[in-house]
Amino acid sequence: MAHKTLQEIFAHNERWRQERLAEDPAFFARLSQAQTPKYLFIGCSDSRISTEALMCAEPGDVFVHRNVANVVQVSDLNVLSVVSYALGQLAVEHIVVCGHYGCGGVKAALSPGDLGVLNPWLSYLRDVYRLHLPELNALEADARCDRLVELNVLEQCVNLVKLREVQRALAAQRVGVHGWVFDMRTGQLKDLRFDAARVSRELLDLYALE
Ligand code: CO
Repeated sequence: MAHKTLQEIFAHNERWRQERLAEDPAFFARLSQAQTPKYLFIGCSDSRISTEALMCAEPGDVFVHRNVANVVQVSDLNVLSVVSYALGQLAVEHIVVCGHYGCGGVKAALSPGDLGVLNPWLSYLRDVYRLHLPELNALEADARCDRLVELNVLEQCVNLVKLREVQRALAAQRVGVHGWVFDMRTGQLKDLRFDAARVSRELLDLYALE
């Protein structure tokens, strides 16, 4: 969509609707009945990320939450509600935290500066930097940014494991937690192989909620 006007968006919607109906007359009737997604996707708000495109997904396939730099903050009522609904009502089988190389939020967190209302949000990312300071400081600037993108995804997966609903679902083997990175320089999706079982065992002493 190369800078469509508002009128063009509505014209496109009508064309898309007609095309869908021509392919499958029951498409919208089925879509409007219920959603049964198997995936919860937690990603960055970046306009260059299209969840459906990078997962080859269709409407109804993926429950989505996005914010600046795909943060799972354990006191953020927004993400907590999304996770709770996804597990409790939708019974998703996979929760994916997906970051992306070149993330503006991660870049901003790596450069000290006052960004107003974004400061507390960026401090979550700066905390990840602080947790991995020796590893990150040993890298050149570009590699440091790429690595912080990856470490941020993994830390947000850890934050998911701190949540009671996620702990229960993991213990019952009802859900998998996955950390991915999208490389928009190549279009490639990379699995960081987050080991939810190992992390939940390690965290249990500190964060067990049962
Ligand atoms: Co981003």
